[in-house]
Amino acid sequence: MFTQRNMSGKFVLVTGATRGIGRRFAEHVVNAGANLVLVGRSEERTTRVVSRLLKMNGAGMVCGEICDLMLQSDVHDLADRYRNRYGRLDVLVNNAGAIFKQRKITHEGYERTWALNHNAYFALTTLLYDLLLQSAPSRIVNTASVSHRMGRIYWDDLQLRKHRYLWGWRSYAQSKLANVLFTRHLAHLSRKSQVTVNAVHPGWVRTGFSKNNDFLTRLGWFLSTPMQRSDVKGAETLVWASLSEEAEGLTGQYFVNCKSREPANRAKHMGDAARLWEISESLMDLPIIS
Ligand SMILES: NC(=O)c1ccc[n+]([C@@H]2O[C@H](COP(=O)([O-])OP(=O)(O)OC[C@H]3O[C@@H](n4cnc5c(N)ncnc54)[C@H](OP(=O)(O)O)[C@@H]3O)[C@@H](O)[C@H]2O)c1
Repeated sequence: MFTQRNMSGKFVLVTGATRGIGRRFAEHVVNAGANLVLVGRSEERTTRVVSRLLKMNGAGMVCGEICDLMLQSDVHDLADRYRNRYGRLDVLVNNAGAIFKQRKITHEGYERTWALNHNAYFALTTLLYDLLLQSAPSRIVNTASVSHRMGRIYWDDLQLRKHRYLWGWRSYAQSKLANVLFTRHLAHLSRKSQVTVNAVHPGWVRTGFSKNNDFLTRLGWFLSTPMQRSDVKGAETLVWASLSEEAEGLTGQYFVNCKSREPANRAKHMGDAARLWEISESLMDLPIIS
């Protein structure tokens, strides 16, 4: 239970809202009466979800934008379109993420887990940061994971060319640790503004999370579903961090079950957070936030 802040006339942008946690989050945004822009990679799925959300008759508009977040070129186009079409951003939720059992490189040269789970968060946020500043008080919420506790950053091998990929787990854990480091450094950079930045672990949630993988992996995921929470429950902390009065002013935090929790020691290393920021900025052609 929380007190919802007044979302009338506000703009919320959420990635990965065609299924799972993001889709449930989107329903809350519509109920709250805000304007919702959701990002999907499939035109068909995105249109279907937008139509369903429009039937809820929320007070705000609901629009879909198509983007393959694994690709930097697509993220740049998305940010340009967003700016031209909507011109205001009160809440940015970086949520789309995945694990891939097989290591593959995008045609832009990034390992795809890193491309989707870290690069897209970093690029979309920095490209739209000026809008968040203009719309402040505004919020950035990043879906991370408890898996960040098993992660480390392979500074000389971010794309895991040399280290074993471990069926995607090493890359996934690295990317989720990067989500928390990114959150903490951006909160530090934003400390004099009214932009807050937080990370969320949604719990272990029954979603389409393992769908990109082979039959045995999907079967393993399916068999564990009785132990997982529903997507409605899984979206709760994201909703709380994005829409509640209680989260107002909280920044640089890692939330689990709508409460602030200590992340892993590795995620608290501000030197590493700054280093990751510098590397990401230098690898991608992005505006500088200082
Ligand atoms: N489920 C869990 O137990 C769990 C636990 C901890 C953290 N998380 C995190 O929660 C977040 C949401 O995951 P979920 O569990 O809700 O999984 P999900 O049901 O698979 O949803 C993932 C969403 O991301 C979108 N997406 C995937 N690749 C994309 C791409 N290249 N471009 C654009 N969108 C893309 C998917 O779109 P499509 O519909 O096109 O596939 C979908 O909307 C992720 O960041 C994940 O790491 C999940």
